[in-house]
Amino acid sequence: MTEKPAYYVTTPIYYVNDVPHIGHAYTTLAADVLARFKRLDGHDVMFLTGTDEHGQKVEKSAEKAGVDPQAFCDRVSARFQDLAKAMNFSNDQFIRTTEERHKKSVQHLWKVLQEKGYIYEDKYAGWYSVRDEAFYTETELTDGENGEKLAPTGAPVEWVEEPSYFFKLSAFEDKLLAFYDENPDFVLPRARLNEVKSFVKGGLEDLSISRTTFSWGVPVPDAPGHIMYVWIDALTNYLTAVGYPDEGAEAYKKFWPANVHMVGKDILRFHAVYWPAFLMAADLPLPGRVFAHGWWTNEGQKISKSLGNVIDPFELIESYGLDPVRFFLLREVPFGNDGDFSRKNFVLRCNADLANGIGNLSQRTLSMIHKNCDEQVPAPGSFTSDDNALFAKAEETLEVVRGHMDRQAFHLAFDAIIGLVTAADGYISVQQPWALKKTDPERMNTVLYVLADVIRQIGILAQPIMPQSMDKLLSQMNVAERGFEQIGEAGRIKPGTAIPKPEGVFPRFELPAEEGEA
Ligand code: MSP
Repeated sequence: MTEKPAYYVTTPIYYVNDVPHIGHAYTTLAADVLARFKRLDGHDVMFLTGTDEHGQKVEKSAEKAGVDPQAFCDRVSARFQDLAKAMNFSNDQFIRTTEERHKKSVQHLWKVLQEKGYIYEDKYAGWYSVRDEAFYTETELTDGENGEKLAPTGAPVEWVEEPSYFFKLSAFEDKLLAFYDENPDFVLPRARLNEVKSFVKGGLEDLSISRTTFSWGVPVPDAPGHIMYVWIDALTNYLTAVGYPDEGAEAYKKFWPANVHMVGKDILRFHAVYWPAFLMAADLPLPGRVFAHGWWTNEGQKISKSLGNVIDPFELIESYGLDPVRFFLLREVPFGNDGDFSRKNFVLRCNADLANGIGNLSQRTLSMIHKNCDEQVPAPGSFTSDDNALFAKAEETLEVVRGHMDRQAFHLAFDAIIGLVTAADGYISVQQPWALKKTDPERMNTVLYVLADVIRQIGILAQPIMPQSMDKLLSQMNVAERGFEQIGEAGRIKPGTAIPKPEGVFPRFELPAEEGEA
């Protein structure tokens, strides 16, 4: 078998000014499902996440907490690492921008950009938002209720005037536009690429890439008083993690350029404009894709600390168990769109697809086998066209899922898996194995065999999104080989495999009481 190409997927590195919430969990979950899928599909995968620990925003948060910035970063970064464990993320690395290896990497990149003539010294006079850690032009701003100026994100901005180094972003307008045209899938969803293109077509100003009014960051080499702009620092984490500046490093050679940078729509400009421009300037290969997903609201409201409606992923997992949470987040909303989190929809969705779907199908089938076939997978007789049609559907499902995964259309990938569950349910209704028990026990054995094998394949296919539950299911069925090469005939379950009394994989949830009800 020819070896499949290595695969590198990243998440944004999260600011440590805030404790993790459902939005952070969402992005990393998407990357996790992709990483798990690719591993099961035979790729060598690098899956990176981490924390973004420098800049004015973090410095201010530490100050407010009355803690030294490094101690503050250590504390909050640990919460993000706890989240990764609680969500069962399979990241290969957790990078922190305060690590020495990262400082070395960003300073090296800076020097390369400087040597190639893309950095010059001047003075910045303009608007800056600490909350967004972003510069804005006058034309982008609106007036807030109290006469203050606001960024398009709603964040307050302040006037900044200070000496600064600049990156010649303006030199990359045409190159970027040509690159987008040649690589129309560089940004997904497509509509977001159009936004990026019109931003670039609107004209690019050179980018201020150093600050002098605070000190929490990576020092600019040979320029006392200058701290690197947090975004040049942060974006470079994707290179650091694979060994940059050592371009001969094993990991670098294997994994760079990254296949997918998974990000929220709020930070698309940094990833789809600034980042490729930095890389072009440094003569480094460009990533394959930036996927910008949508934002979650909570029961119709924007999620924010000040509104007090932040959804705590730890609490959700505590209430419902991990895999339903993982499933809901990626199944409910077409990936790329905004979504609204509601407990009612959560319960309806999980009951329909999990408890009444995969859960019920496997519970019924495994119970029947356990009771009627000597607690083991029966030997099948010859297969009918109905049997073969269901087998074929399982094999096709892998192809369909693969296609959707390659475009990060998670909701469609899971639809396809649920579609296979529905097909198996339909097969049961038609074949009626319980009725065959008396009339044709041999046929009953064949039907139960077909079902057991299709459940095995559903379990294998659904591992990326629900690793724990599918492990529980496959372990009950004594299925040890779980890679995607086991889909189809190659991995057919062996007659005689022990099937103990099955334990339910998914609970059924109660609908939450309506607002106003006792
Ligand atoms: N530190 C930068 C990223 C640097 S990457 C080189 C940053 N950090 S952040 O902590 O603010 O995280 C932003 C990311 O969290 C968003 O891009 C998005 O992926 C995720 N989300 C935060 N709130 C969210 C929602 N309400 N809904 C969905 N995702 C959101 O920006």
